[in-house]
Amino acid sequence: MPKTTISVIKADVGSFPGHSRTHPKLLEKAAKMLKEQRGKLLIDSFVTHCGDDLELIMTHTQGVDNINVHRLAWDVFMECTKIAKSMKLYGAGQDMLADAFSGNVKGLGPGVAEMEFEERASDPVLIFMADKTEPGAWNFFLYKIFADPFNTSGLVIDPSMRKGFVFEVHDLMEKRMIMFKCPEEIYSLLAYIGAPSRYVIKHVFTRDGEIAAASSTQRLSLIAGRYVGKDDPVMIVRSQSGFPAVGEVLEPFCTPVLVAGWMRGSHHGPFMPVGLCDANMTRFDGPPRVICFGFQICNGELIGPADMFDDVGFDRVRTRCNELADIIRSQGPFEPHRLSLEEMEYTTLPAVEKDLMARWAPIPE
Ligand code: F6R
Ligand code: MG
Ligand code: MG
Repeated sequence: MPKTTISVIKADVGSFPGHSRTHPKLLEKAAKMLKEQRGKLLIDSFVTHCGDDLELIMTHTQGVDNINVHRLAWDVFMECTKIAKSMKLYGAGQDMLADAFSGNVKGLGPGVAEMEFEERASDPVLIFMADKTEPGAWNFFLYKIFADPFNTSGLVIDPSMRKGFVFEVHDLMEKRMIMFKCPEEIYSLLAYIGAPSRYVIKHVFTRDGEIAAASSTQRLSLIAGRYVGKDDPVMIVRSQSGFPAVGEVLEPFCTPVLVAGWMRGSHHGPFMPVGLCDANMTRFDGPPRVICFGFQICNGELIGPADMFDDVGFDRVRTRCNELADIIRSQGPFEPHRLSLEEMEYTTLPAVEKDLMARWAPIPE
């Protein structure tokens, strides 16, 4: 049996109204184009959205970074861009930063999370998709899932998990990476991932090198050299039988964590877990939201999805997120609601400063 690859590739190619949600016509087109590849390039596929981001979930046997799979995703986004332009949807084609495909969608705008593995007797997989935030938003959750015994009881009481996990961290500014073995290196890991605008967890592995989690890590502003919205990351997490249980993977989302993004990609706000029916950005273009679809993988077929946050168990965190949103919104344009100056460099603030530059004068002695 060949190994199975899961590729989750996403882009914002236009939405309505404003940056709030993807239009059904785009979802239909994308689903149709992927279904045409069933039994050819792909084994199976599922198309959905989180806010204004079009999410392509694909399974195949081509491995990660496969040129044909990436080209297919690119073609889907291009065709959907055409529809978005014909309807004058907002931000049509906004994440398509290149004119033509060049071998891999990474670096061209779309976000990518992929993993290849040999299927076990039963393989539950959870796919997380976010809007109005940045890739580092996953850091807190991946740490809790794979390194915090107060979250994941299996780290303490399941013999197959007691060895811990290995975290691959990328430095998005210096384009370098490092591996941390946990639990013995959790303090070093936290020293970096506590700064999620720069350091992001790309992969998590078992101590035997088996893939456990993969995330998308592109930062659009670093690719484009200008503000083009937030990156709105995706993440794939394997679960059960030596990996954290489904409930252990979901548990950290009961904490209302503040993330960077929200209005104009320039504000901290609570990261709210929601069912698909609530994955539409409204209040102040948010608040930042995350959906989670659960599947069983069966010879590459996607059995599911189950809409994991569409559950009363997450009602309280949603209420707390709304309370936090009220509190932090009352600060208006003041930090720490507004991002730090360093982060604002990657928004539209430099353009405002340019206008005012000539009016600054030295303070008299
Ligand atoms: C955030 C986002 C929106 C826009 C905002 C202004 O990632 O996409 O909050 O930044 O709606 O959009 P423009 O500048 O297109 O009017
Ligand atoms: Mg957008
Ligand atoms: Mg978005």
